[in-house]
Amino acid sequence: MTQPLSATGQQFVASLLSSMTLDEKIGQMTQPEKNSVKAGDIARLSLGSVLSGGGGNPEPNTPMAWRAMVEGFQQEALQSRLKIPLLYGVDAVHGHNNVVGTTIFPHNIALGATRDADLVRRIGRATALEVAATGVRWDFAPAVSIPQDIRWGRTYEGYSQDPQVVSELAVAYIEGLRGEAWNSPTSVLPSVKHFVADAAATWGTSKRVDRQALSLDRTLAIAKMGQGFVELLDQGAWQIDQGDALIDEATLREVHLPPYKAAIDAGALNVMASYSSWNGLKMHAHQYLLTDVLKQELGFQGFVVSDWEAIDQVHEDFDRAVVLSINAGIDMVMVPFDYERFIASLKRAVQTGEVLEARIDDAVRRILTAKHALGLFEQPYTDPALLEAVGSEAHRHLAREAVRKSLVLLKNEGDVLPLRADGPEILVAGAAADDIGAQCGGWTISWMGGHGNVTPGTSILEGFQQAAPGKVHFSADGEVERHYPVGVVVVAEEPYAEGMGDRADLSLSGEQLALIERVRGRCERLVVVLLSGRPLIITEQIPQWDALVAAWLPGSEGHGVAEVLFGQFPFIGRLAFDWPASHHDIPRRADAQYLFRIGDGLRSGVVVSS
Ligand code: GLC
Repeated sequence: MTQPLSATGQQFVASLLSSMTLDEKIGQMTQPEKNSVKAGDIARLSLGSVLSGGGGNPEPNTPMAWRAMVEGFQQEALQSRLKIPLLYGVDAVHGHNNVVGTTIFPHNIALGATRDADLVRRIGRATALEVAATGVRWDFAPAVSIPQDIRWGRTYEGYSQDPQVVSELAVAYIEGLRGEAWNSPTSVLPSVKHFVADAAATWGTSKRVDRQALSLDRTLAIAKMGQGFVELLDQGAWQIDQGDALIDEATLREVHLPPYKAAIDAGALNVMASYSSWNGLKMHAHQYLLTDVLKQELGFQGFVVSDWEAIDQVHEDFDRAVVLSINAGIDMVMVPFDYERFIASLKRAVQTGEVLEARIDDAVRRILTAKHALGLFEQPYTDPALLEAVGSEAHRHLAREAVRKSLVLLKNEGDVLPLRADGPEILVAGAAADDIGAQCGGWTISWMGGHGNVTPGTSILEGFQQAAPGKVHFSADGEVERHYPVGVVVVAEEPYAEGMGDRADLSLSGEQLALIERVRGRCERLVVVLLSGRPLIITEQIPQWDALVAAWLPGSEGHGVAEVLFGQFPFIGRLAFDWPASHHDIPRRADAQYLFRIGDGLRSGVVVSS
């Protein structure tokens, strides 16, 4: 790995470090979330970073308000004794997705289907511009997860089940976030996550929810957690996310480690540790993997940030958890709430010798190295003119291109696709066809995402109406009087994030099957468009469909779907995940049966406009 800093830069960091008190060093290792940090504390404690978790927006939720919020925190940081600039972090995992009005790109599972590194690099650059416009210089992305069990609620955050595809696209995204150089004013620090083998956990091994309490007394559980949450738990929520990867080291090294090596070789200066465990030991306490492998063997010279409240899971005694995780190689702790408790605990640990000051110095050197590489000491603020880039036409066109290239055509009986814009009226059915939230999925404005017009964009239906004016009849429930030559049904998974999206049953719901049945009975040719964060189990239903399009979670620019279905652009997407034939074929393994395989994807003709 090349040196991230010049000799002068290294000297600057060494000199600054030598002038810091223990309190200031520990302050730099501390990251509260923005609603928890008390006025004046950033300067008083020399806090190194603040973050917005999923949905951690200011009111109003506008780019200008975000910029004012982040600048306010930075102004405080520059009033600290040593004026060390703050690094503000957000999850911009498919565009600057916490902010209303930004461009929402397709989620990674869709980008994997494009196999287009140049496209992903351009998406990284556009995302960096929109993120930097709000004063933010750190993005908790890309996830380099390689999902083995698609019942996992974070499957869609993975590019592919092919490590090579993940490495190529992650490096492209990192280069996009960087731009010309790490110290250019619009570069954004990536966080390669979640280290390591976050996507290799075994179903049923997550300890995120105490199911014992739930099974003991359901009424109590509903009272404590809410009906909706308990129902999600019944469906499998938090069964696998943050679970235990029961794999051997050879598999870990062959499948899950390569994207980290590729990212480090591309100059990545931040890695986020995984909540998950490897053979029973929490990643946040895994000195062999965090320090011996990541920092020594792979030569990682940036810093490792914990996940949200993740060190608390390392040991029931918080002070012990702090010692174990910092000594294992965590450099900055996403606390995110009681940061003074963390600071006091780590200071005690240093004073008792349980954590050596040399470990503290190593962590702070890594943090200061990343801040210096970003040019934060020279330019702690970004250019407000960047606000013009937020949600710009150019970025929305880029997102539309990504949507087009990500669609995978899996069935096209009798070439029902492409549709004719100059032919008879087409029936479009399904509430999901007119639901920006459904096409964006999780990590959109709020942590889990939601339904309806969550942010400006174009629904799939609007795209159809633009592509074939006057030729589209829409019915949310498919209850129509007449018959149509072609019916298009759009069905979507309910938006979800993380373990809330763990699901035992990946078949279509009764309501979705009834909708498709209704439309089936009212059209000659039936096209199904699936909006999902993973392959779903459709083996029994697909014979009744004439065409099937996997549209994944396309984001705010839904007209990209219609442009391909009407033949303005060809289908070029190819599956980046195997498509299991049944639930028995999950998780991925050699003797499983698949409906479709990685690389599958039909081509369709382009309708030459008459
Ligand atoms: C979440 C996720 C992580 C995210 C972090 C901050 O729990 O695991 O991917 O970056 O917290 O929101």
